[in-house]
Amino acid sequence: MKLSPVLAGMRTYPFVRLAEAVERVSASGVEVIHFGIGEPREETPEFIREALVAALDPLSTYPSAEGLPELRDAIAAWAGRRFGVALDGDREVIPTFGSKEAVFLLAQVLDGDVILVPQPAYPVYERGALFAGKEVFELPLEAPDFLPDLDAIPEDVLARTAILWMNYPNNPTAATAPLDLYERASALAREHDFVLASDEAYSEIYFGDPPGSALQVADRTNVAVFNTLSKRSSMPGYRTGFVAGDPDLIAALKRYRPNVGVAPPEFVQRAAAAAWGDEAHVDAVRGLYRAKREALAPALAARGLRHAGGDATFFLWLEGAEPGLQEALLQQGIVLTPGDYFGPAGAGYLRMALVPTLGQCERAAELLVGV
Ligand SMILES: Cc1ncc(COP(=O)(O)O)c(C=O)c1O
Repeated sequence: MKLSPVLAGMRTYPFVRLAEAVERVSASGVEVIHFGIGEPREETPEFIREALVAALDPLSTYPSAEGLPELRDAIAAWAGRRFGVALDGDREVIPTFGSKEAVFLLAQVLDGDVILVPQPAYPVYERGALFAGKEVFELPLEAPDFLPDLDAIPEDVLARTAILWMNYPNNPTAATAPLDLYERASALAREHDFVLASDEAYSEIYFGDPPGSALQVADRTNVAVFNTLSKRSSMPGYRTGFVAGDPDLIAALKRYRPNVGVAPPEFVQRAAAAAWGDEAHVDAVRGLYRAKREALAPALAARGLRHAGGDATFFLWLEGAEPGLQEALLQQGIVLTPGDYFGPAGAGYLRMALVPTLGQCERAAELLVGV
């Protein structure tokens, strides 16, 4: 058979390679503490699980692409409380099946040859661009602030652009963005008629001031924000997120998405509405990630590892590793992701996702200092 040349030419998804290495270590009998993948492993709060069970209906019909009004309204109300913005749940919000599919598919919905992608980055922006037959133009994120230099994008590239991807709080660097960057990016998007797509998957995992949102710009024309309950409410398996922003883009997604079949099940949407309506559990989740950071900080420092990034997400973006350290730690069972898995600009860094239990983080701290 003739495979898509994009698929045929694609390197193995980096995390598949990591999984194979971890498998080998585990098979040799070493206890693995996995900081490699950004998948929350905390329990989903009980009231959310109960909401899902209560929403199960004997009759199972297809969910609609535009989603349940009660979920769209819950998302709009949450955005109002969290960011002080007024969103119309009918025109400015659409539920998604987690946020990954929506991030991947956006390039199919928009015209324009070029997708502007941060580097290093979550790999899905680039993959969505390539499968949609678009060119990728990389925006380097460099220490100390890991923000893109919008002035460095050539005019002829801007003229051909379909999407500018931004991701703050950032995976993998943990950096946050000031609101004026969103203002400048959205002005550029309107000027050149592309979409500023802001992936805010980690907006609720923070340890300093609550990060802002691209929803807060003065004019949301050509602006789309992606968010998810995977991190905020420890619900990665539910697959529930949203896109919010420019009503014209939301209308386009309502036309496009029924072709793909990515509407979230209605029982999941009802559980999601309950989750967006509660902040107490999110506070508890933040407290847990903070405790993990604090448990590991002295041990990391003792190994010469410094967190180079910001005060949000559950990632540490570690610099100062001597060559071979990632492999040596892997043999001890401590799995960190090499920074270059997120692209060449990540070389020299290690990403640590604080997703093992607090007890495992404490154990890893002991192993790091050689106890
Ligand atoms: C930056 C970023 N965006 C989006 C996602 C997608 O999350 P989900 O599809 O679970 O909503 C992830 C998941 O790891 C992520 O790291």
